[in-house]
Amino acid sequence: MNRRLYLSPPHMSGLEQEFVRQAFESNYIAPLGPQVDAFEEEFAEKVGAKYAVALSSGTAAIHLSLVHLGIKQGDRVIVSDLTFVASANPVLYQGATPVFIDSESSSWNMDPGLLEDALNRMARSGTLPKAVVLVHLYGQSAHIDRILTVCNKYEVPLIEDAAEALGAKYKGASPGTFGLAGVFSFNGNKIITTSGGGMLVTNDEKLASHVRKLSTQAREPAPHYEHAEVGYNYRMSNVLAAIGRGQLRVLDQRVEKKRKIFKKYVELLRDLPGIEFMPEAQWGTHSRWLTVITVNPEIFGSDKEEIRQALEAQNMESRPVWKPMHLQPLFSNCEFIGADISENLFRKGLCLPSGTAMEERDISRVVNVISSCYKAKL
Ligand SMILES: Cc1ncc(COP(=O)(O)O)c(C=O)c1O
Repeated sequence: MNRRLYLSPPHMSGLEQEFVRQAFESNYIAPLGPQVDAFEEEFAEKVGAKYAVALSSGTAAIHLSLVHLGIKQGDRVIVSDLTFVASANPVLYQGATPVFIDSESSSWNMDPGLLEDALNRMARSGTLPKAVVLVHLYGQSAHIDRILTVCNKYEVPLIEDAAEALGAKYKGASPGTFGLAGVFSFNGNKIITTSGGGMLVTNDEKLASHVRKLSTQAREPAPHYEHAEVGYNYRMSNVLAAIGRGQLRVLDQRVEKKRKIFKKYVELLRDLPGIEFMPEAQWGTHSRWLTVITVNPEIFGSDKEEIRQALEAQNMESRPVWKPMHLQPLFSNCEFIGADISENLFRKGLCLPSGTAMEERDISRVVNVISSCYKAKL
């Protein structure tokens, strides 16, 4: 059997080991320590934010942003519909209710026009949401300016879920640095990884220090253990931050390789009728964290599930595009604003193996299987 090709496996550079060695040598094997401080500083500088807080996951970063905003039972939070469930779960942790907004086809991210209509309507009925969680999907920025203008008009705080979009650009800057808070993930499949972890970035000093406090059981400044609000154990460990520092140094290389993999797929697949690629919106640079195709079964002759199974049979991992939140049983009682854009992307979309250690022959293996699924009309 051929070596398994994963969707986006960890890719260590070797530099990580030096920082991990330093962590061991200093015996900072606990949460917190100099590697965490350095990782936060280096990360903030890399993305262009004033503050960064290293946490145990991207989910924790979204959760603490909502806690900081005081979101509670009865509140509404607008969330992108086409995303991983981690964007919306923290809304439920707070007992609040998500309202989902459909994608636009140019970026696959939240449609700013739908958001504007929704906020206009909610403002009229006095039911404005307490926050908007905007997702930057698969390495592509949403149309941030337009979304931010609408949010600012109604003073609704914007939280950017950039878990999948580290290394992407929006008008030259990093997504995640435009809203009140930005969230990144270092889960094992992300463009850089600490095996598990997350980062919250912000330019708001109060938010940064509150999140830091909340993530370490919300201890009040006192020599003994004094607590006045609910806290969490969400801080990143010093050992994992050491891995992150090594990974951050190769981020630009990783983006370059991801984009190269995408280009190769395009070159080899573009002549197949019925296959299209996730577009790159004109406002930014797509990191191509994952190469994503859509398959039109009427033209191609097979659907995306047949391709997925054919790849799996040859030991290659591919994955359907996220199932929209409004179609999930978990959110069956939640409001959805939009039509069928995200649903169609789910029905047709497939994420292809996109690991940065892939070689050209690995890409050819994937392409050969996809090509073999094409059934030309006679
Ligand atoms: C869009 C999105 N949001 C949030 C998360 C959560 O990140 P984490 O796994 O670090 O909690 C992920 C990835 O896992 C994601 O893809």
